[in-house]
Amino acid sequence: MTTITLPSAPLSPGHDLAGPWQPDLGAGQVQRRIATLIQRYVTVAHLRDRIADLPHQFHHPQPRPWSRINWAAIGPDQVSGMAVEVYCAIVLGSINTEAPIRGYTQASRQYLEHFYPPMAQFVGGTVDALGQVITPGLWELEEKRHTPALTTVYHRLSGQRPTLNPHRARAYQPSGDPRADLYRHGLHRIATEYGATCLYLWMMAYTTGPLQAVLEELLIDEINHMTKFWGFGRWAYPDTSLGMMAGTLTQAMVQKWRQPNLQGSLIHTLRRMTHELAWGQWSLSHRATFLSTFAQVMQVLWRWDQSLTPPYLEGLLGPHSDPGTMAFPRPLGRLTRATELGPRAKQQLSR
Ligand SMILES: [Fe+2]
Ligand SMILES: [Fe+2]
Repeated sequence: MTTITLPSAPLSPGHDLAGPWQPDLGAGQVQRRIATLIQRYVTVAHLRDRIADLPHQFHHPQPRPWSRINWAAIGPDQVSGMAVEVYCAIVLGSINTEAPIRGYTQASRQYLEHFYPPMAQFVGGTVDALGQVITPGLWELEEKRHTPALTTVYHRLSGQRPTLNPHRARAYQPSGDPRADLYRHGLHRIATEYGATCLYLWMMAYTTGPLQAVLEELLIDEINHMTKFWGFGRWAYPDTSLGMMAGTLTQAMVQKWRQPNLQGSLIHTLRRMTHELAWGQWSLSHRATFLSTFAQVMQVLWRWDQSLTPPYLEGLLGPHSDPGTMAFPRPLGRLTRATELGPRAKQQLSR
């Protein structure tokens, strides 16, 4: 059930996936292209399809195949409304952020495996007694295609190999309250997948042809992961509310204020992202279209979120009675490192 229900209308001449294209796009045209892309890729129906796919992925994890891309045909003439140098700086920032995917997946696996082994396996795969990865998770398999794809894009646009300065993933840091740790970590993961979704959609609005086709694949992956993480979080924390989220974010801000070098907080991530993406080189209209993309995507997420009622989520993922119990059906095969599992999860595994 890895089908994607995206409309595949044939493109008329002078049009691409975002609508009419021309070599000197103005801000208004870019805004219209963003709206078209959102209508095409980020719909409530599509998000519902992506969360409904999660139980299937626990049993039969299958990376979504990408369409054939004409890599050799990618060129600077496929960027409009933005200097190619600025575009390349954004691509480089994305590469540095995407690169440490193994670190991201293993930290997430450790936060999850005490409570939700199938989800831990979905993100981080299986590991041996020393914590070495035996088989990568589906999230990692899909995400690890992004860095090489963006590296090729950078090379095709600039004629040079990128000089990498990969971000260092924040390691698993338990505080003694695993439920609160998982909540904070999950919020952070959802925020980064949402950020990547908005970034690649926004970049698609300024591009066309084979370059846009690469970003389309990245975008579809990010929407899929964002939706699964968000929906799973809604199921795992049915009592979550705006107040709870605001409280966690405020706590992160206070922590950041006390320890300015603290890595991994949302504020740190936001600051790092804007620095990485060369925000300083963006024009006012780039900033406006970027922020408007975030607002428009959030509107759809919010509408979809209204449908994530406890009965609906329990119908998909199983009853949510006790956070220590793996309520939904477990996937086949070995799950995670048994020595690190909580007592309830261990009981489940030994059944
Ligand atoms: Fe990614
Ligand atoms: Fe991602």
